[in-house]
Amino acid sequence: MLRDVEASDADAYVRMRCDPAMMAELGGPLPRDGIEAKVDTDVRRTRADEWWVSMIVPDAAAPEVVAGTVALWSHEEGEEAGLTEIGWMVLPEFQGHGYAKRAVRDMLERARDDGRWGVVHAFPGVTNAASNALCRSVGFTLVGERNTTFAGRDLRTNHWRIDPSTGLR
Ligand SMILES: CC(C)(COP(=O)(O)OP(=O)(O)OC[C@H]1O[C@@H](n2cnc3c(N)ncnc32)[C@H](O)[C@@H]1OP(=O)(O)O)[C@@H](O)C(=O)NCCC(=O)NCCS
Repeated sequence: MLRDVEASDADAYVRMRCDPAMMAELGGPLPRDGIEAKVDTDVRRTRADEWWVSMIVPDAAAPEVVAGTVALWSHEEGEEAGLTEIGWMVLPEFQGHGYAKRAVRDMLERARDDGRWGVVHAFPGVTNAASNALCRSVGFTLVGERNTTFAGRDLRTNHWRIDPSTGLR
């Protein structure tokens, strides 16, 4: 199941965003220093229902144990203002069990039912085999390749898109 991000998820953020293996396809590990600020922003924006930042919870009876995260947001600045993006990460000990795929599908079903987000875009690295497989199997359409900025890094990515009201598999 998915639940909203909380301040106590900072440890999971560190294990995801500051780890070289987890960040191999995302430009390398991020500095430890910025994590609390990022969690605070995600919590505040999610509580305000402006972004949806969710933690993936394998066992509803233990909601503090997280397998990873999935997030949906609309860009607010620049040439891509208004573009809705989805992103995901699953911790190494939970990878390969379908958590990312289920979480992305759950988030897109929620977006479809909410109706405000429109077409949703995803930008996995061109060599990110698992994320590109996930996009294909959930029902995204491949638009092509492009450069994408993530946390200030320029990445070579694929561009996938899906209309959750018609495209979900
Ligand atoms: C990418 C990531 C989220 C996948 O999470 P996961 O829970 O292991 O993925 P799932 O088990 O849901 O599998 C999703 C798809 O990827 C495939 N897959 C999983 N691991 C794979 C691998 N190592 N190589 C190739 N395909 C793989 C699965 O078969 C599945 O495809 P299918 O539906 O066609 O069978 C996870 O590995 C991760 O967080 N990696 C580091 C951070 C990252 O790259 N984030 C994504 C940025 S876009």
